[in-house]
Amino acid sequence: MPYLLLLLSFLLRLRPHDASVDFNRQPPRPLVYTYHDAPLSHPQQVHVSLVGNNYMKVSWVTDETDVPSTVDYGKTPGIYDSSATGEYTTYSYFFYSSGKIHHVTIGPLDPATTYYYRCGGSGPEFNFRTPPATFPIEFVVVGDLGQTEWTRSTLEHINASNYDVLLLPGDLSYADTHQPLWDSFGRLVEPYASRRPWMVTQGNHEQEMIPLIYPKGFKAYNARWPMPHEESGSDSNLYYSFDIVGTHIIMLGSYADFKTGSDQYKWLANDLAKIDRSRTPWVLVLLHAPWYNSNTAHQGEGESMRVAMEEMLYNSSVDMVFAGHVHAYERFTRVYDNNADPCGPIYITIGDGGNREGLAMKYKEPSPSISLYREASFGHGRLRIMNGTHAHWLWHRNDDSAVLVADDVWLEALSSSPSCSQKIQPKLKSTQRDEL
Ligand SMILES: [Fe+2]
Repeated sequence: MPYLLLLLSFLLRLRPHDASVDFNRQPPRPLVYTYHDAPLSHPQQVHVSLVGNNYMKVSWVTDETDVPSTVDYGKTPGIYDSSATGEYTTYSYFFYSSGKIHHVTIGPLDPATTYYYRCGGSGPEFNFRTPPATFPIEFVVVGDLGQTEWTRSTLEHINASNYDVLLLPGDLSYADTHQPLWDSFGRLVEPYASRRPWMVTQGNHEQEMIPLIYPKGFKAYNARWPMPHEESGSDSNLYYSFDIVGTHIIMLGSYADFKTGSDQYKWLANDLAKIDRSRTPWVLVLLHAPWYNSNTAHQGEGESMRVAMEEMLYNSSVDMVFAGHVHAYERFTRVYDNNADPCGPIYITIGDGGNREGLAMKYKEPSPSISLYREASFGHGRLRIMNGTHAHWLWHRNDDSAVLVADDVWLEALSSSPSCSQKIQPKLKSTQRDEL
């Protein structure tokens, strides 16, 4: 029986993760496997994420099981005048058993402040900086990271200039059921994810679903990357929202049920209805499979979710929708229902972090009029929200080891547009209300 399970796991790993696999991709670069060469009690895979107002969750893994789930922290290196205790979890996947995965929430924390912290009472000191209390705030947006030499160069480019919060629209480790690659990914991103909060949502590579054995999937993802879903009234780690500096950010689940009347659909409707544009003039949405996409890769995969949810986002004047999945960059104009619409969101595909599958090089021709910029290169995006009305979006291309700005656009918040702001307080159609 164990051999049968292994064979099944192996075959599923070989299986293409979707139907559209015959892309012409730019050659991928080799995998970077990252090792833990410190004592077993020392923390590894340290990353931080926002949780509620002025709190941060510190997550890490230890191979040794008697390490306490405590974080000591303070504003001066080596002096920890605060301490917090959290919880831990473990999981197994076939013959793999995870280390002890610790999650500790610390705070309240001051804004725009560097904190120094130690995990589990031993090992090196880490530090992070909390986001500011007021505008401006800068988000890095990057999807489909993986763990190749391309990933490493993207991460170095991200780290080369300052930012406040990283947003990841799915596909993290590309472990694809090979669990040690989750650990390696955690170690690869630790120098970056331990210093700034990383807020993620799931992609298809997080599913790791095995029929009958792990039918619900997301075992590693949920254990390692818990996001603050309970704080936003969601009962699933696959979709949630949070507020940060005048911005309401909604993380949707392309691989959770999204059809009309589903739990995610109802949660989204309630979440959108609660947005107060006087507090958060900007609204951003992240999801994995793009709703608009003129690349030949993954055509149509986000369509049923678009049909189910697009009207809700439009009625709530969502400013921007970021997606991953397609390994390339594309920026659309403001769109609603396949047409340019000055009150619709700007759609951006940014699945170009650097994964092992390489780039999606083929585009549909001619380019649709709603697609304003498209390019199959690795890179990352930066959204700098200057104030309640204006933001600056930049896409940085990885030009081998260099980084250069390739796309650059200024945006105006829909809440500040006289012609669009009248629909800001969403009024769901009566049919939608009945379905909730
Ligand atoms: Fe994907």
